[in-house]
Amino acid sequence: MNRKLSTLLVALLFGLVMAGVAYADNGPETIVLEAGKKGNVTFHHHKHQEKIACGECHHGPGHSEYKEGMEIQECDKCHNKQNAEMPKKLQKTMNAFHKNCKDCHKKEGHGPTKCSGCHKK
Ligand code: HEC
Ligand code: HEC
Ligand code: HEC
Ligand code: HEC
Repeated sequence: MNRKLSTLLVALLFGLVMAGVAYADNGPETIVLEAGKKGNVTFHHHKHQEKIACGECHHGPGHSEYKEGMEIQECDKCHNKQNAEMPKKLQKTMNAFHKNCKDCHKKEGHGPTKCSGCHKK
């Protein structure tokens, strides 16, 4: 390999590594949350991120405070009926979502609070 080319390759690799370091995983732009017969909920994730901190929705193990860069799991990884440590009411994934989503919309006076505002058939 000629020298110029290998220098270029090293520079390119370095750039890729740095990009990897700076890259934060903000998750998908839009998430379709499936709710069966009630009708799925299309959630604009990135739009919510513009004004709302990650920790308003995501928390860590044991309900610990959200920290930047921590691993983010789907809500039903913990909010499910097999999780004996979870209070009964919050075992249902639906309740965890309704509490998080609806409570904020009510509090803020923005965002849908009626069933059909979120659930679309
Ligand atoms: C208004 C609520 C809300 C805010 C704010 C929010 N998220 Fe999310 N995020 C969600 C929901 C809901 C999901 C889907 C969870 C599920 O499928 O169970 C999700 C999914 C994710 C996922 C994918 C997890 C997976 O494995 O599927 C990542 C990564 C993520 N969010 C990162 C972030 C980061 C970083 C921020 C802040 C910059 C943020 N989110 C802000 C609600 C939010
Ligand atoms: C790693 C496990 C875990 C994940 C993942 C998780 N939770 Fe939780 N969540 C908990 C625990 C533990 C509690 C506290 C239960 C208690 O009161 O003892 C909790 C409490 C809550 C509460 C009630 C307290 C509060 O903060 O208002 C809501 C609402 C909630 N979670 C919503 C969500 C949503 C929405 C997601 C996905 C975006 C999610 N959780 C992901 C473990 C988790
Ligand atoms: C901490 C506050 C907060 C939380 C938590 C939150 N939202 Fe919102 N949401 C808002 C606000 C504020 C608006 C109005 C913003 C606008 O219309 O530009 C909104 C608007 C919406 C809209 C209508 C506009 C659009 O983007 O389609 C939908 C649907 C929605 N939210 C769904 C959800 C769902 C589903 C969750 C839970 C996974 C959730 N929201 C959690 C604050 C919140
Ligand atoms: C702010 C948005 C929002 C509003 C308003 C809302 N929901 Fe939901 N609902 C959700 C989300 C998000 C889920 C969770 C989907 C999942 O588990 O991935 C859900 C789940 C459900 C489920 C569970 C479906 C299943 O198969 O597990 C039912 C039933 C439901 N909602 C009924 C209602 C009813 C009835 C109303 C009105 C009184 C309502 N919802 C209002 C967002 C909303």
